[in-house]
Amino acid sequence: MQAHDPTLEKNELKQILRDLKSQSDVETVRIRAEKLLKTVDPKVLSLAEQELLKEGFSQDELRSLCDIHLQLLSGKIQEGPASDLSHPVAILQEEHKVIQTYLAKLEEIAQKVKMSKNSTLSQDDVAELRNVSQMLVEAESHHKREEDALFPRLEQQGITGPPSIMRLEHDELRKRKKALKELTETAGKLNQADFTKQLTELESFIVPTLRSHIFKEDNILYPTALQAISENEWSTIKREFDEIGYCPFTPQHVTAR
Ligand SMILES: [Fe+2]
Ligand SMILES: [Fe+2]
Repeated sequence: MQAHDPTLEKNELKQILRDLKSQSDVETVRIRAEKLLKTVDPKVLSLAEQELLKEGFSQDELRSLCDIHLQLLSGKIQEGPASDLSHPVAILQEEHKVIQTYLAKLEEIAQKVKMSKNSTLSQDDVAELRNVSQMLVEAESHHKREEDALFPRLEQQGITGPPSIMRLEHDELRKRKKALKELTETAGKLNQADFTKQLTELESFIVPTLRSHIFKEDNILYPTALQAISENEWSTIKREFDEIGYCPFTPQHVTAR
């Protein structure tokens, strides 16, 4: 394969994704994928994924392919535009770091409930769980900034696949985060077994889904956006971010002008 020919790279990627789906000789396919993904341009990757959507792959299939892709990508975390911390992508990435700490807490508390004999939580854990579920709901402005200011710029350039998958995941997460908040508010009225069951169900969806969502944005969507969007447009996006507003946990040093 000729190096860095976008059309060839795109076709090779599409073939790899199809082969991964058919599960034929996964090891060989992985080696091919690793080789290509080391150098591939994120925009080419996004276009290939979106053409597969058009070819009839369902979003769910593509999402499972995305997960295989993420395993291949792990260890290859890309740095954001670190020199300018008020850049919209830097703000989103800083928020991701905080959101991940809430996910770790949620995971830890759910683990404690499962391990404890009578499924009870200490007052401190209940308070912590309430705070975490509140903050996950407050992360809504992060998703709104992505949906209203960032994704439309990618969509205008024909990059529609990754934003549509991210929107779908926001919707699925929104429902569960709301349910988690309601559960923590009514915790005292439920019997312990019901509370544990519901908490476990919600946690086991929210934690892995939001973690993988963040990973995809940090490693695929944001790098694609950094390549596709011009400097001027980023200033407009930053203004729109300011208008939409930030989360209570957005680090202040990134939003200060
Ligand atoms: Fe998102
Ligand atoms: Fe995000």
